[in-house]
Amino acid sequence: MTAHYEVRGSIAVITLDNPPVNGLGLATRSAVAAGVERAEADPAIAALVITGAGKAFSGGADIKEFGSPKALAEPNLLSLISLVENCSKPIVAAIHSVCMGGGLELSLGCHYRVAQTGTKVALPEVKLGLLPGAGGTQRLPRALGVEPALNMIVSGEPVEAQMLAMVPGQKLFDKVVDADVVGAAVKFAEEISEKRPLPKVRDLKARHPNADAYFQFARNMVGGMSKNFPAPLRCLEAVAGAVKLKFDDGMRAEREGFAALMVTPESKALRHLFFAERVASKIADVPEDTPLRTIAKVGVIGAGTMGGGISMNFLNAGLPVTILETKQEALDRGVATIRKNYEAQVKKGKLKEDKYAQRMALLSPTLNYADLKDCDLIIEAVFEEIGVKEAVFKQLDEVAKPGAILASNTSTLDVDKIAAFTRRPQDVVGMHFFSPANVMKLLEVVRGKATAKDVLATVMATAKKIKKTAVVSGVCDGFIGNRMIEQYSRQAGFLLDEGCSPQQVDKAVEKFGFAMGPFRMGDLAGNDIGWAIRKRRYVEKPGMKYSASADRLCELGRFGQKTGAGWYDYQPGKRDAIPSPIVDEMLKKHREAIGAKTRDISDEEIVHRLVFALVNEAAHLLEEGIAQRASDVDMVYLTGYGFPIWRGGPMCYADTLGLFNVVQAMKRFAKNPMDDGAFWTPAPLLARLVAEGKSFT
Ligand code: NAI
Repeated sequence: MTAHYEVRGSIAVITLDNPPVNGLGLATRSAVAAGVERAEADPAIAALVITGAGKAFSGGADIKEFGSPKALAEPNLLSLISLVENCSKPIVAAIHSVCMGGGLELSLGCHYRVAQTGTKVALPEVKLGLLPGAGGTQRLPRALGVEPALNMIVSGEPVEAQMLAMVPGQKLFDKVVDADVVGAAVKFAEEISEKRPLPKVRDLKARHPNADAYFQFARNMVGGMSKNFPAPLRCLEAVAGAVKLKFDDGMRAEREGFAALMVTPESKALRHLFFAERVASKIADVPEDTPLRTIAKVGVIGAGTMGGGISMNFLNAGLPVTILETKQEALDRGVATIRKNYEAQVKKGKLKEDKYAQRMALLSPTLNYADLKDCDLIIEAVFEEIGVKEAVFKQLDEVAKPGAILASNTSTLDVDKIAAFTRRPQDVVGMHFFSPANVMKLLEVVRGKATAKDVLATVMATAKKIKKTAVVSGVCDGFIGNRMIEQYSRQAGFLLDEGCSPQQVDKAVEKFGFAMGPFRMGDLAGNDIGWAIRKRRYVEKPGMKYSASADRLCELGRFGQKTGAGWYDYQPGKRDAIPSPIVDEMLKKHREAIGAKTRDISDEEIVHRLVFALVNEAAHLLEEGIAQRASDVDMVYLTGYGFPIWRGGPMCYADTLGLFNVVQAMKRFAKNPMDDGAFWTPAPLLARLVAEGKSFT
């Protein structure tokens, strides 16, 4: 059963029951429609109440039906709302907890609405690059008023029912109650059961005293704030239609807007992201009901850049953290940095004084490993040297309690090797945070060959608790994100050899939508990191081709912002990247030294070489089983590397262009003697997908 029918005196109560949030899937829609018809036909019934079981009135569309023919099958949502609106007996919506999207649209088809305090009310379709397509843009402005409705529709943000009830002149809620909303709605239905004509939201007028000027103003605001997303402006035009057009014409315009948005790459990207986020926490061979280990106390080893940020995540979530260093001075410095970060948040009004005090009270600094003996999860963030990691994990093996999870934040070292330093490799896992660790959403969870399934499941659940997007990676050099970025950086280097300036490359990439181009990113992260990796590569993989331009830069001591100079010049204390004549000169000499043939390179070539380098490497990662699925790769790039959200990640972008076209471009790049031709051989998975006419996602 996906909806129940029950009779209370002369009132029929239809209760949506499709957990978790009473999504309006086909079975639920059919059951509600059947209930309405049954009540209509029963002379003993005077009025109806529609409500939802459990923790929602309704969260809207059933995401399991997204994109399937079932979503449109009759009775579709529009037909159901029309059936409700045209019922000859009054229908009261009893709204509680969550009333969103199609759920709110259904309630707007009812003749009356009784809501419970605290109900979160929203039309969030814009967040998927869409507009509310079942009358939301036409009925909400009529019921609530044009301005508050537009704000809700364009932002997609939830507002609590009692706040909406305070809007002057609103007709959205007839009553707001603190408890027992169904009882209140039944009583209300009894009171109004004889009243005719039945009020319909569609018959109200959506009015604004200065409609033209208001919408022009709103257009400028919304247009400015949503440059790369077409949906907010289309939402606005649909709402403008509610004011200007007759109801049925407005509905037609809404449907046209919906259909147009549905096929935009931006909406496809946002919907892809919506599912990618949900699926990322699932691990194919780890059942969802795997029993979790309890994580009540956390240990962090190393109070440097990463250790401090990692600790803050747990303190923010209310978990006690013991942070360990080898020297008092380093410990004090680490704790002071945490304090400073919180103080900055307090100053900006983002954190209350008492919360700050609570968080600091959860932090126990120590120099003594014995203090980690009660910790359920211990994360190591010491120097990136295998010898140091060995010493740390051997000590942990001695002091950690049985069953404690031992994690390493290593960014390049072999997690299996680290696990082998202990007698409990099943309890060892990689937790690769990104810097700044208290800000960045991404967490790569590195699964060693011995890592136990319940360890993985527990770490994934813990990531959720500290509000990270966790993606599982197998063990390899660089894991998912950094292994791909190395290929991207290599291409950036070749582009310099071929005549591009750092600012030309950065500009093209930033115009594409990346938060930062590769050279500004290098200056921020420190060019010495890449230098160290290349030095290692020159020994490990002597055949691998790199542009030496970045080495020449580092030889000048230009490590980036931290040394006041990198690919760009920086003024003391400022972060603005200023093109550098010294770098221009260095590049000129470098090109002469390698006998480079330079040419003009288009922005499109720049972007495609960088992005397709990511795509080809990711296809190898998928083939090797390091990444579980293409959408995980997209999550890594969207949450950790500033890839433009509206393009849905590198794999989604490649799919949008068509993999055939991507491979054709790779073939062209392979012919460039200044590039690494061998790299551009399409990864076997990519070649296979093209041959089969398939896509990644
Ligand atoms: P850091 O140099 O800022 O901090 C390391 C801290 O560990 C220092 O405070 C040091 O005193 C302490 N330490 C060294 N040996 C120790 C020991 N035996 N016991 C206890 N404490 C010890 O380094 P950072 O940047 O925080 O990196 C730490 C780890 O995180 C490395 O494995 C690094 O690869 C990884 N990582 C770094 C990222 C970054 O952007 N900095 C990003 C992701 C991972």
